[in-house]
Amino acid sequence: MERIYLDHAATTPPDPRVIEAMLPMYTTYWGNPSSISLEGQQAHHALDASRKLCADLLGVSTREVVFTSGGTEGDNAAIRGAALAQRSRGRGSHIITSAIEHHAVLHTVEQLEREGFRATYLPVDADGVVDLDALEAAMTDETTVVSVMAANNEVGTIQPIADVVRIVKARNPKAVVHTDAVQAAGAIDISPKTLGVDLLSIAAHKFYGPKGVGLLYIRNRTPWQPLILGGSHEKERRAGTEFVAGIAGLAAAMKLAWDEFEQRNARVSALRNRLLFELPERVPDTVITGPTDPTGRISNNFSCCFRNVEGESVLLALDMAGIAASSGSACTTGALEPSHVLTAMGIDADLAHASLRLTLGTDNTGEQIDYVLETIPGIVARLRSLAGG
Ligand SMILES: Cc1ncc(COP(=O)(O)O)c(C=O)c1O
Repeated sequence: MERIYLDHAATTPPDPRVIEAMLPMYTTYWGNPSSISLEGQQAHHALDASRKLCADLLGVSTREVVFTSGGTEGDNAAIRGAALAQRSRGRGSHIITSAIEHHAVLHTVEQLEREGFRATYLPVDADGVVDLDALEAAMTDETTVVSVMAANNEVGTIQPIADVVRIVKARNPKAVVHTDAVQAAGAIDISPKTLGVDLLSIAAHKFYGPKGVGLLYIRNRTPWQPLILGGSHEKERRAGTEFVAGIAGLAAAMKLAWDEFEQRNARVSALRNRLLFELPERVPDTVITGPTDPTGRISNNFSCCFRNVEGESVLLALDMAGIAASSGSACTTGALEPSHVLTAMGIDADLAHASLRLTLGTDNTGEQIDYVLETIPGIVARLRSLAGG
């Protein structure tokens, strides 16, 4: 049976063109980029070329690009690095984030709270949009770091980051704004200059690049200190021999995502919209989670809850029917706690347990979506009848 992969928010299959761009880093340019030898210099040039490509695509300078091991490290380094640097300059220790961030952000902020920082977790509305009035009210002279994600990984909600930046800087120009753009990269314009952010993190594996590599943008002169200490790699901002092949893959994947932005998003959103509009018609008691207006969510994300079924059972039945799906964030799958994102959006725990996330990619076809739309109603009906519902 052909597998239908609808979990692109968890990770994407690497594009063969990306792998092609990585291979020479293993066969030819395998030297240590910090070595003085010819082998080292060749690897260094390859690394420089990747950095230049990433910086150009983001519209920033090469000095503002630090390569990381992915989204989690980027989020940790951005928030922790800015919070500690701001505190050491005597600028205060108040952090603001939102209640629906990825755990890479939430757990970093919670750890900083244990280290003496104060944190505010902004509420969101029923669509998962962050409350800008609450942001304005929370800002103080002591606020030094604000982190709000560009798009949510569970329900796809796009956040008004430019407005976040405007509100923060108007109240306290010295406060630093970070955005986790891990899910947004390739789906919306994430140019740091357009958004106005000081720090931005992305991960290659969410847009057909390799796993274990990402990028942190750090605007020039942003108060920030490194998380990982050691050698002088990445201009002393991230120690450790660079993952040259992964970084080449990241750059190639970014180039493709930027070049093919229009056609990829048009194609994926047309298929996603079929789920958004047709699935609730075919399955009674389906509650769409996140914006029902397709323009309010990233193009590949569909998410919903089915009343009176267990989300986990739906996922298992879908997997047996050849469909790879998720209940929300890959990290909360298998957890007993309902998703913190759905809870923050005001969805009750029972309903939140019956969540389904289908995230599409460039390889999905109309026939696959036909099959999904035909298969899900039977699965939900069977599970409801088993549960006596
Ligand atoms: C919004 C968001 N932030 C951060 C991460 C973590 O990224 P990585 O898996 O590259 O560490 C993810 C991964 O799912 C994500 O969706």
